[in-house]
Amino acid sequence: MTNTNITYITTFEKEVAEGLTAFPKSLSSKYIYDKKGDALFQQIMAMPSYYLTDCEFSIFEEHREAISDAFSHPEGFDLIELGAGDGKKTKILLKHLYKRGDNFTYLPIDISQNVLDGLKKSVQKEIPGVAIQPQQGMYFEVLDSLAQYNSRKKVIMVLGSNIGNLLHPKAIEFLTHIKEVMSASDLLFMGFDQKKNPQTILDAYNDPEGITEAFNKNLLHRINTEMDANFDADSFKHWETYDPETGTAKSYLVSTKEQDVTINKLGVDIHFAAWESIHTEISQKYDDTIVEWLAAESDLEIVNQFTDNKGYYKNYLFKKK
Ligand code: AVI
Repeated sequence: MTNTNITYITTFEKEVAEGLTAFPKSLSSKYIYDKKGDALFQQIMAMPSYYLTDCEFSIFEEHREAISDAFSHPEGFDLIELGAGDGKKTKILLKHLYKRGDNFTYLPIDISQNVLDGLKKSVQKEIPGVAIQPQQGMYFEVLDSLAQYNSRKKVIMVLGSNIGNLLHPKAIEFLTHIKEVMSASDLLFMGFDQKKNPQTILDAYNDPEGITEAFNKNLLHRINTEMDANFDADSFKHWETYDPETGTAKSYLVSTKEQDVTINKLGVDIHFAAWESIHTEISQKYDDTIVEWLAAESDLEIVNQFTDNKGYYKNYLFKKK
């Protein structure tokens, strides 16, 4: 590896330089999501093998009354969704709450203004009576500004098992951060993908059409485009593992040959031995014991839980201890 005169401009560049010069090599999955990565993730969510989306959708359909009862408050409430995306699942609940005459404002938060514009348009079209106030920004930044929403009950939602992309210590930090902006009557409603037949999990992250592979390799394409690099994505293989003991699914890109990659903008050459890996993503799977432990470590308490008929996925409701 050569390393001359590096000036890091963005966190992305800094993390790429650090991750690819470390041993073992790694890249963060958060950088998969540019416009192309977002579109590939939408395709993943539509794949039947990616059961998470259908399971959470069916939980919302089946338990909408009980979930609405838990959210409802006589003085109304603010429904805050972190990482709202296309809001497909949330709209089931919004429709139901609106039909019941609940008094609430929907505050979707997402990093992408584009996503929020689309979501606002579709909510206004499909459920015109719902008050919607989109907030653009990063989770943690917006979370801090949420502390000011304390004139009435807050319900914070994080769906899609997004927490699963964090290792447990980071997940505890995330939950603790949320807890810190919660008042005694507020609720956190969060989706956790459950441990299950390991084959079902591997199949969710290893579709034969290669959509997940393209999603994973979008990291290399982004580095090529944004950092003037020469990764040959075809000489990397998408590889998924699942450890049933820890519940951790891991994605890798494995170099199929010995090769050197130049990242011009960072002034670095990265050497890959044949079959050397880059760890790119974790997708943690849970059971009640792990979720109870995460909650206890974050000073939260589980007050209810909802699951699909296969028990593949759970949405837990937490309050502050
Ligand atoms: C966003 N996140 C929860 C997804 C997951 O299941 O880890 C991202 C994903 N990666 C591959 N397929 C979907």
